[in-house]
Amino acid sequence: MSSKKTKKSNPSESDHAAALEAVYKPSKDFSKKARVASMAQYEKLYKHSIEKPEKFWASEAKELTWQKPFKKTLEWKAPDAKWFIGGKINVAENCVDRHALGARANKAAIIWEGEPGDQRTLTYSQLHREVCKFANVLLARGVKSKDRVLIYMPMIPEAAIAMLACARIGAVHNVVFGGFAADSIVDRLEDSGATVIVTADGGWRRGKIVALKPVVDEALKKYDKIENIFVVRRTGNEIAMQSGRDHWWHEETAQASAKHQPKGFGSEHPLFILYTSGSTGKPKGILHTSGGYLTGTYSTCKYIFDMRDEDVYWCTADVGWITGHSYIVYGPLANGVTQVMYEGAPNEPDFGRFWKIIEEHRVSIFYTAPTAIRAFIKAGDHFPEKYDLSSLRLLGSVGEPINPEAWSWYREKIGGGKCPIVDTWWQTETGAILISPLPGATPCIPGTATRPFFGIDAAILDEYGNECPPDVQGRLVIRHPWPSMTRTIYGDKARFKNTYFADYPGIYLAGDGAKRDKKGNFWIIGRLDDVLNVSGHRLGTAEIESALVAHQAVAEAAVVGRPHELKGQAVAAFVTLKTGSEPSEELRKELRDHVGKVIGAIAKPDDIHFTPALPKTRSGKIIRRLLKELVTTGTISGSVTTLEDMNVIDQLKVLLSE
Ligand code: PRX
Repeated sequence: MSSKKTKKSNPSESDHAAALEAVYKPSKDFSKKARVASMAQYEKLYKHSIEKPEKFWASEAKELTWQKPFKKTLEWKAPDAKWFIGGKINVAENCVDRHALGARANKAAIIWEGEPGDQRTLTYSQLHREVCKFANVLLARGVKSKDRVLIYMPMIPEAAIAMLACARIGAVHNVVFGGFAADSIVDRLEDSGATVIVTADGGWRRGKIVALKPVVDEALKKYDKIENIFVVRRTGNEIAMQSGRDHWWHEETAQASAKHQPKGFGSEHPLFILYTSGSTGKPKGILHTSGGYLTGTYSTCKYIFDMRDEDVYWCTADVGWITGHSYIVYGPLANGVTQVMYEGAPNEPDFGRFWKIIEEHRVSIFYTAPTAIRAFIKAGDHFPEKYDLSSLRLLGSVGEPINPEAWSWYREKIGGGKCPIVDTWWQTETGAILISPLPGATPCIPGTATRPFFGIDAAILDEYGNECPPDVQGRLVIRHPWPSMTRTIYGDKARFKNTYFADYPGIYLAGDGAKRDKKGNFWIIGRLDDVLNVSGHRLGTAEIESALVAHQAVAEAAVVGRPHELKGQAVAAFVTLKTGSEPSEELRKELRDHVGKVIGAIAKPDDIHFTPALPKTRSGKIIRRLLKELVTTGTISGSVTTLEDMNVIDQLKVLLSE
């Protein structure tokens, strides 16, 4: 890519304004080989795809293997979407068999590296055998189509194998991130009604074993519907196995046949549930189905990551998040690409680990999160400088807005000033990327995810439903359904409708604030609801508050986000104590650990402010807006006339200045 700005081709990290103005066009070399080679081509294809979205998506879907072709592309009665009606598809067959039984049989599907340095490579043919074997294990243990299977795993190939085996037999997986605590597992088991768990003894993280099966055992003290648990031996730590219920993965698969004929399921057959935080209550079970989800992830990988047979692709996410589902398991494998999978932390043994992996495996497409990039910047340039990163040709970013400094560093220090950066905007609910540059066509500008993908009718609306003029902030919406959109919140249709389709009937409300510039680029500003984005992970303030008030010392709690240099946002909690409890450093630590135990370490508050009272309206509602302003700016500028007790603000200001 070459910068259009002649005076500054490499915006300095301190020069924020210059970075914001910089426009990086794709290099001729990149464009020449890309699927979409110019903006003119993008505009033309985009126009067609918006005028006739069904035509565009049908032609994408037809690139997949269908056991029975679909008859109708879309049935839309908001908020209910049905895509590729009449079609029968097996998602695992598309991700595995069609490569394994064809020209890619001996091509590496997954090059895996454990944190201690152990490596395993699975070719498509080997992946096929493993998926078939585990599918047969599940079937032999009585797992049926639509049964829910909870997967709680480290980043090892068996995580992907388990997901694909579920897909293969029509069971619905629910992957729970390995950092979540027992109570979070209980919530998900109860909500999904799972009867099977796939887990491991543990995984490696920062040189230590993180035990997993013991957390499952803890969760099962509160849930008794689990019939079978399959346990991968990864770390060798001692764990309890309950006879008849708990089975070792290696023993079960050793006896299983590697032959399994994939059956076609209806296009709308449920594929998985993935829980994500909302602004109120417990996490929502986002449900994705088969044909549409696979079409969306397949197509976006093809165009946005420009995946080719010769690429080595690496997405650093965990399979416990949507990025891992769509851009480690389903999208890349549907494209038959070779990918790297890494188990551990980016700084084990030091901050050179990622760059060492890129050098060793000749990674060409690299997809990571701004929070990681900021941590690398802080660690120092000497880490990436030690390694040969010349194999890279394309970089991606996901999960939160990428600040121009991080963007410029990523481009220069990792991409050698030559790789396009695709800043991809999407959500657990959208299933696949909706807004992103196309690397051979779109001029990249630090801080904007640029333009909508084909078939995506994105817009910015004001509260009355009118489209905002350029550069005016409003709410990001999608006006037409797309194949990989969530179909419902599992077991709660009303919440689904209320959350996404109530403000503007028939239009999907993303929950993000954004604006569009005069050239049509989308600038995502951040969540408009009480959802925090900490290191690219979604956390509901309500969940953290309810964890805090569950502690015996706490009377009330209010949680807000504050800007954080590395994590994007940090969790700030305001807590009032019950009579008899006194603020102390020990209690602060106890409360942080308590939240870690209830939800998981990622939700631990960064700050806990003990306060005699919280700002409330006369009707008793906590005004989080004021707390947010206070932790962000240190003061309150807006109206406080609704406050029940004006003294509270002064008390809080004093508290924060201490
Ligand atoms: O606020 C947006 C932010 O992450 C939210 C979705 O979080 P989650 O469902 O956990 O999925 C994360 C991975 C796709 C969005 O509502 N977000 C995601 N990508 C970007 C982003 N914000 C700005 N720029 C992005 N590229």
